[in-house]
Amino acid sequence: MAKVEDLISRTLDQALSMESIEIVNDFALPIQSRALTHLLNVPASEGEIWIGWGIHVFKVTGGEFKEGTVLEQYLHRKFDEAEANPGGDLFSALVQASYRGRRLTREEMMGFANLAFAGGRDTIIHSISCVLGYLAEHPDALEYLRADPKRITLASEEFFRVFMPLTHIGRVCPAETNVNGVTVRAGERASLCWSSANFDETVFPEAGDVKLDRKPNPHVSFGFGEHLCLGAPHARLIVRTLLRLCCERVKKITIVEAQERLEHEAAFDRVLGYDLLKVKLERLAD
Ligand code: HEM
Repeated sequence: MAKVEDLISRTLDQALSMESIEIVNDFALPIQSRALTHLLNVPASEGEIWIGWGIHVFKVTGGEFKEGTVLEQYLHRKFDEAEANPGGDLFSALVQASYRGRRLTREEMMGFANLAFAGGRDTIIHSISCVLGYLAEHPDALEYLRADPKRITLASEEFFRVFMPLTHIGRVCPAETNVNGVTVRAGERASLCWSSANFDETVFPEAGDVKLDRKPNPHVSFGFGEHLCLGAPHARLIVRTLLRLCCERVKKITIVEAQERLEHEAAFDRVLGYDLLKVKLERLAD
């Protein structure tokens, strides 16, 4: 936690000293990659490799793990190295892990690593960008949090609810079943539309409004049940720390240039965060 705080503190100070900064590529991506080195317990130099992959590294494959990608080659190399010489990092933990009395297959290891790398990448970058974009457009929100930083915990959950980066995730149905009157045959998919559930007006009063003190806030941005996101504490740490440091150091955020991102789905389009967000950060006087 101290390392992540130090990382965000230094990155924010650097941004405050600049005339303007592009948040998606030059602020959120470095924070996400470097914070991940602490979570996975790998050398800091690995973070620089991941930053070098850029923002679109997994987009060509639709955000999912596919054979032959830079990520697949990198992960195979890391698992080979960990098998030959295990250490204290995630790759070594996975090659040594056992499940029901057997070792994980390479495919299973790749699945876990893919979730940490691809699943935990855009989501964090998107959350950081959306939070800063929101604070720029709602200066009163920054003042509200600054007045009592204990408000940051509930506010973060509201940001995770409304800025849910993952529109939906599909499941393959193993057996024919009926979902709310729709027959899903064996092998077909049913999709869980998290972003829609987060705006369910029977659960969230004035679901379309951002209420920074919303409580309870049973959003499903990190999923639920057995597959609850393993990176949720890490995501919360990053967003809460960023908000706290913004309260302590940032007087005002002004948008210089913004290009919203459009997620194109077969059935609908969803405006989702930014492809580019250039802002000017002004330092709070001591
Ligand atoms: C704002 C950031 C994040 C969001 C919104 C998010 C969202 C989710 C969601 C919705 C699921 C459930 C998937 C399902 O049930 O099919 C999930 C699972 C998972 N996430 Fe995240 N995630 C975030 C960050 C991260 C990070 C930073 C990591 C790791 C570095 C991570 C690793 C995982 C893993 C390993 C799972 C699978 C858990 C399992 O199946 O047992 N996530 N995440």
